[in-house]
Amino acid sequence: MMRCDLTLAWKNLEHHAQAFAGFDLRTAFEQDALRADRLSQTAPHVFADLSKNHLDTATESLLQELARETGLAAHRDAMFRGERINTTEDRAAMHWLLRQPEGSVQGALAEPLAQVHATLQPLLAFAETIRADAQITDVVNIGIGGSDLGPQMAVLALQDFVIPGKRFHFVSNVDGHELAAVLKDLKTESTLFLIASKTFTTLETMTNARSALGWYKAQGGCDVSRHFAALTTNVAAAAEFGIRTTFGFWDWVGGRYSVWSPIGLTVAIAIGAQGFRNLLAGAHAMDQHFQTAPLEQNLPVRLGLLDVWYRNFLNYTSRSIAPYHSALKRLPAHLQQLEMESNGKRVDRNGHALAYGTSPVLWGEPGTNGQHAYFQMLHQGTDIVPLEFIAVKKPTHNLADHHELLLANAIAQAQALMLGQADEGGHKHFPGNRPSTFLLLDELTPASLGALIALQEHRVFVSGSVWGINSFDQWGVELGKVLAQDIHARLASGHVAGLDASTAGLLKRLR
Ligand code: F6P
Repeated sequence: MMRCDLTLAWKNLEHHAQAFAGFDLRTAFEQDALRADRLSQTAPHVFADLSKNHLDTATESLLQELARETGLAAHRDAMFRGERINTTEDRAAMHWLLRQPEGSVQGALAEPLAQVHATLQPLLAFAETIRADAQITDVVNIGIGGSDLGPQMAVLALQDFVIPGKRFHFVSNVDGHELAAVLKDLKTESTLFLIASKTFTTLETMTNARSALGWYKAQGGCDVSRHFAALTTNVAAAAEFGIRTTFGFWDWVGGRYSVWSPIGLTVAIAIGAQGFRNLLAGAHAMDQHFQTAPLEQNLPVRLGLLDVWYRNFLNYTSRSIAPYHSALKRLPAHLQQLEMESNGKRVDRNGHALAYGTSPVLWGEPGTNGQHAYFQMLHQGTDIVPLEFIAVKKPTHNLADHHELLLANAIAQAQALMLGQADEGGHKHFPGNRPSTFLLLDELTPASLGALIALQEHRVFVSGSVWGINSFDQWGVELGKVLAQDIHARLASGHVAGLDASTAGLLKRLR
């Protein structure tokens, strides 16, 4: 694989970006009647309009050339062959295998796939048992990062499919306020705690799990095997913790890619076994698209390359996500981890410092709320922030007017960003020519959500691959964890020797 900044395409893209300085979306549409068609495409469950982005046909062909020169297709194929592409942890990245139909791969992957299904069946059977158990009214997922954000996002997104009569809670923070607020409304006999942790060592999750177990016993609970289950690759640690019901999985599932694994049990209980299978099937359809569609008509590839173009050639350092569906309110948080933990890297796969930028900052809120908060900056601020709209055609409520108003606002915002308003000067001037992508789902279902999330996973793979980084490790989270142990001990002892003056000062104040 050639380093992206050493390719000919990179040089050509640099020249192209200079010539592109005068690019204006309004002129681009005037000059090319087919622009909207050429820069739109369908992928499984998702229609994407890329035409309001700062790119043209030449940009796309140069980006495609960059993909070829950096060996994107070969790297993608290596992932789908189960090669150990996560080199710093010496692991494969096979989250996609979790959504692969039973018996559908041959060779070396046949055995891991058989294990996937041998795990999925009892997991879904357990989910159905809990659904049928009227005595269990509260399910509490205790986990953090990928063991929280994916399941939480999906349960919220699929609220229309969620079984009535059960409440789903998510406790992630080590801040005891969060667990305390959940516990105060629970009864031992009607609660199921799911301890979701790939490693079963994460400080926050272990602290919350211990406190939940302590609370359960203190309230007189004596059937831990019925009221606690563990979702982890570290089955031994779960057993040591005292949990008998454990659903295991494999180190080749990254935390932020784990909603498809037993970590998704909360989702399976919420939407049922068939719903969960539909979620997997939607994601699998997107996997196939990513694997087989020509790169020019491959949506994750086009989005990932657009991310590279924006980050490295137009210097747009962030991307905003605006889901125009209130049920997708945790989607920006999930995508934040997906993009920033995967691609927030400063060295290449061999550990050499990079001479170019990587992950953009991701942020966002559901529309129309964002319009009344920070869209001001998107329209008139000094920075250009590409905005990604995600809209859903069919609502599931029957409140007259609301959905059309919602969709009208989404379209109008994309239009306003692009068109601007030239005839008013000063404070009322809108420069326009501000880029956006519009993703559209027909309906928000388990299948379409699965496809949407898999699309985002693969677009992150694409930009990470071009950048030559390892998108599947996360060494940057380790230092803080180690220092927190030291500070924790110092908070108890009061020893400040060897600390910088600021840290010592804060510690003294907090004791
Ligand atoms: O600290 C970061 C991280 O390792 C994430 O990658 C992961 O999703 C999260 O912590 C939780 O990890 P675990 O599932 O092992 O508790």
